Amino acid sequence: MYPLHRGRRLRNSESIRSLVRETSLSPSDFMFPMFIAEGENYKVEIRSMPGIFRRSIDLTVEEVKELFELGIRAINIYVKVSENLKDNTGKEAWNSDGLMQEAIRAIKKACPEMIIMPDVALDPYSIYGHDGIIANGDVENDATNDALVKMAVSHAQAGADFVAPSDMMDGRVLRLRQGLDEAGFTNVGIMSYSANYAYAFYGPFRDALDSAPKENTSDVEPVEVPKDKKTYQMDYANRLEAIKEALWDVEEGADMVMVKPGLAYLDIVREVKNAVNVPVTVFHVSGEYAMVKAAAERGWLDHDKIMMEQLMCIKRAGASLISTYFAKEAAIFLKNNQ
Ligand code: PBG
Repeated sequence: MYPLHRGRRLRNSESIRSLVRETSLSPSDFMFPMFIAEGENYKVEIRSMPGIFRRSIDLTVEEVKELFELGIRAINIYVKVSENLKDNTGKEAWNSDGLMQEAIRAIKKACPEMIIMPDVALDPYSIYGHDGIIANGDVENDATNDALVKMAVSHAQAGADFVAPSDMMDGRVLRLRQGLDEAGFTNVGIMSYSANYAYAFYGPFRDALDSAPKENTSDVEPVEVPKDKKTYQMDYANRLEAIKEALWDVEEGADMVMVKPGLAYLDIVREVKNAVNVPVTVFHVSGEYAMVKAAAERGWLDHDKIMMEQLMCIKRAGASLISTYFAKEAAIFLKNNQ
């Protein structure tokens, strides 16, 4: 009998395709990364990320309510810290009246059910644009962890549901878990950026926060500063290392692990998914967003189709949650195309 198989029977109408579809998307699959700035009634679009804004707290709160209405249940938040508050200790990061802490309180008050996951890393607070404290020409691991614990506890005190360490210091998940527990925050979770690669696609994010690694121009403090994040973020040639890092983080107490970035790393997402027994999240990062926007602006790609295809493929690879700048647009698309 020829042909032996007719796979097309399962593809010959939208109805049959919908019956056998293996993966689905809903707004609660998405987390929305948000950039917060000082001021009031302030909203400025990020040049390299059309449709994404830095907003003051009041406007952020309004946006969060809209996101919740659309079915989005989690946000990642990042702050744009003014230059005069940056130093090499990152101490503004645990100021209980800092921008991040104020933002968490305001969002929780206005929309208590939205899960808030503030970023835990010193880069927005560092005069050198690094995720930790610089000493001897590199980021110092253990001193940075001391700072991250203070930062995470201050987020928990402000009302964060989860903390999201994105720094890649060794042992930070264990230190954060201990620190949170000792401060009484046993219910505050840890979503760890476990497989966090040194990648060129974070450029637009660093534009948004003005947080790219920079040369030391101060002659008061003549410190040698690494020009990139390669001594802590992972080498993108590596696969086994991602599994190792994810397993370590789970052992240390991570409630969820993350793979960052997304699209070019879906092999890693699947491997990590198969290796761990906690939810895997994926960061569909700023550069990946910018590429789609730029090509769509030129009429080279169909924006909505590419957006939905990328998100579905990230989910198919094993993501339980996707942090994506497309979260709001994709939620609106899903609502309009049910
Ligand atoms: C901070 C952090 C970065 C991103 C998330 N958290 C920047 C970096 O790793 O340098 C990137 C996210 C994006 O590009 O959208 N550690």
